[in-house]
Amino acid sequence: MTSKEIRNSFLEFFKNKNHRIVPSAPVIPHGDPTLLFTNAGMNQFKDVFLGNGTRDYKRAADSQKCIRVSGKHNDLEEVGVDTYHHTLFEMLGNWSFGDYYKAEAIQWAWELLTDVWKLDPKRLYITVYKSDDEAYNIWKNYVSENHIQRFAEKDNFWEMGETGPCGPCSEIHYDRTLDNSGATLVNAGVPEVIEIWNLVFIQFNRKPDGSLEELSAKYVDTGMGFERITSVIQNKNSNYDTDIFMPLINKISELSGKKYYQELDNPDGIAMRVIADHVRTLSFAIADGALPGNEGRSYVLRRILRRASRYAKNLGFKEPMIYKLVEILKTEMSEVYPELIEQYEMITKVIKAEEESFLETLEKGLQIFDKITEKLNKQNEKVVSGEDAFQLYDTFGFPLDLTELIAREQGFSIDIKRFEELMQEQKDRSRAARKVNIQEVEVPILDASTDFIGYEQNNCDATVLFVNDNQIVLDRTPLYTESGGQVSDAGIIIINGTSYQVINSKKSASAVIHYTDRDIDAKVGDKAQVSFDLKNRRAIMRNHSATHLLHSALRQVLGNHVQQAGSAVSAEALRFDFNHFEKVSNNDIEKIEKIANDKVLEGIDVKINVLSLEDARKNPDIKMFFGDKYGDVVRSITMDENYSIELCGGTHVKNTSEIGLIKIVSESSIAAGVRRIEAVTGEGVLQFIENQKNDILKEKHTIEELHSKIHNLEKEISLLKQGDISKGFEEWAKSAKMVGDVRLVTKIIETDDKESVITTAENLRDFLSKSSIGVLACVIDGKAQITCVVTDDIKNKYPAGKLVGDAAKQLGGGGGGKPHLASAGGKDIEKLPEVINNFSEIIKKFA
Ligand code: ALA
Repeated sequence: MTSKEIRNSFLEFFKNKNHRIVPSAPVIPHGDPTLLFTNAGMNQFKDVFLGNGTRDYKRAADSQKCIRVSGKHNDLEEVGVDTYHHTLFEMLGNWSFGDYYKAEAIQWAWELLTDVWKLDPKRLYITVYKSDDEAYNIWKNYVSENHIQRFAEKDNFWEMGETGPCGPCSEIHYDRTLDNSGATLVNAGVPEVIEIWNLVFIQFNRKPDGSLEELSAKYVDTGMGFERITSVIQNKNSNYDTDIFMPLINKISELSGKKYYQELDNPDGIAMRVIADHVRTLSFAIADGALPGNEGRSYVLRRILRRASRYAKNLGFKEPMIYKLVEILKTEMSEVYPELIEQYEMITKVIKAEEESFLETLEKGLQIFDKITEKLNKQNEKVVSGEDAFQLYDTFGFPLDLTELIAREQGFSIDIKRFEELMQEQKDRSRAARKVNIQEVEVPILDASTDFIGYEQNNCDATVLFVNDNQIVLDRTPLYTESGGQVSDAGIIIINGTSYQVINSKKSASAVIHYTDRDIDAKVGDKAQVSFDLKNRRAIMRNHSATHLLHSALRQVLGNHVQQAGSAVSAEALRFDFNHFEKVSNNDIEKIEKIANDKVLEGIDVKINVLSLEDARKNPDIKMFFGDKYGDVVRSITMDENYSIELCGGTHVKNTSEIGLIKIVSESSIAAGVRRIEAVTGEGVLQFIENQKNDILKEKHTIEELHSKIHNLEKEISLLKQGDISKGFEEWAKSAKMVGDVRLVTKIIETDDKESVITTAENLRDFLSKSSIGVLACVIDGKAQITCVVTDDIKNKYPAGKLVGDAAKQLGGGGGGKPHLASAGGKDIEKLPEVINNFSEIIKKFA
């Protein structure tokens, strides 16, 4: 059977046992802060087990993508060096919610494995929780007692995380030994005998204080490792040898030109297995909306990528290569997980960019590491100092586990304690640099509960449930409390005739704490009147509704990979972060703005529906977001059912026309693959235009100032130029000719500035002082020009105007002027030198 057939036959089997086949939940858990990644099929049903949610079916089955790289379930270190652990794997699971229990769960598991898949019963070993006689006795109906073993909590009490649903479990192990000698190898952590299926009988909730709380009903939660069962059915010794991994491994082998070795201690084999494993985790996590980054979940992904990248380097790759494998994954798995098609571009771009950025420092970091070990070897030391590990982390981007891995390969360990101290110091430094604001104030845990009535009413009477300094909890409030990116409402609380401004609100369990501008003089039971600032609320609503319109417009213009990565809606503006890998062009911004504004101008009635989360999930047109925690009952906001439907608890305008107008004011990058747009609406747009107008006026003023500066500078430059020319007068005078008693100075100058010629001529006249005639010739705008100056003592006899008139005639033009200074010109440029050389002849005419 192919892996696809195996997956299908599992689902088919349980479908026939009246199970609802549900889709895999994303690997990024929705609103469950206790988990970084979905780590088991049961995660999506946690609310059912804990009695907080219901489903309209009592039996379910699926194939769930799981990532086990953090928290209670972490298989990272095993990956690549064994045959059966992965950071991402598929868990085939079936569930009973208060319906069938141990007998059926065991019976069906046995039936599927031995009847349908024909596994040899002699190769199956069963484990049960040490005191679970019930399970033990049921199993006795199927296997002989020497195939049933009892284990304690570590192996047979399954827990989802530090807290949450848990219970005793019964596991099925498969014996691969040639001689069926696996009985003693169960739970020994060897590849010869591996666990393939875990049947958990969920009965408890592990509370944060460590205690176990009995649940109101009993549940079955099973999980079978898809890759493992595939290896068993396909008769392979390693999961990596199945058709799930081989296409990836073949591609790596092809790209690297190296052969794949199945042997567990072969370095190339390890590298190929790790890369094949890690690309799956990265691809599915990114497809479901996570991105590599510096904190939490994002940092886990970055660590995985860097680990894979370092193994790629071991295989000889110098350029990014992991991203090239995504295509194989898409081909192999998109039939079951279409998100690999939808997010293909995003996944490859993110992985490639991350690879590129790490490769920039990887080589250097490895060199530093070699220097460190060289030094340690000389000193016969085996521990890399915390300082060195921290430097590799801080400067070269080496996650600690990567440094540990490289160290381990060379027989070194790391002073982790010191490394962590240095990390803490760095964190403390950056925390100290952050300003404490009201958001960081500890919210007291309260039992009280506050009704929110602010969808319908903007004021109400209320009763005080709790008061402490400037914090107050009422039994009801119309004030919205920050949620889903929308800020808290501003408002007023009046108690005993005194009014207090509400400056912020926070949720604490089901209570809302309002923070006021000063301490409140009131006691529990007092009556209060509370109202929100309507003008402020309207501005918030405009921005929130505009956010939805822009979201749809973004998807229309940029593509369906656009997913909300965060949003902030206040009275002043809206901010929307989304997954997209490149700058949004101005052209696209205009298109987005136009589409959203068309929807404003259409004046669409905003429809608000309350529906079950189940129904919402069934409608593919409804936008739901990662990171948002939805209750069983959700609100959908519709602005034209063909345009925008989003699940949202926020407050909205009644008709899109109330938004006025939407203006995108900025577009920027906030992280690799995440863009941010900021926009304003309504009055904000007016304000924006006003600001722009002022900016333009300011600019205009600046331009005028610049103009006048330029003018002054030009003048200065020309004066400077003239100064230079004046310095040359003495030189000119040396070549003067005497025409009778008259000294004649002629000069052809190069200039394109008529004014400066006049000034130079005037200066020359001053310089010559007596019985002299100066002639400056130049070509300006393609015309010959002659400027003549005559000193006062002879200007009546030799009037400059007449002299240049004569010269101009020879140049085919005319002109004249005053006796002491005159200019004239003509078009015959080529004659200019001759006219100047013979100027004495003109003078002689007047002698
Ligand atoms: N939730 C169980 C597991 O993950 C089935 O093993």
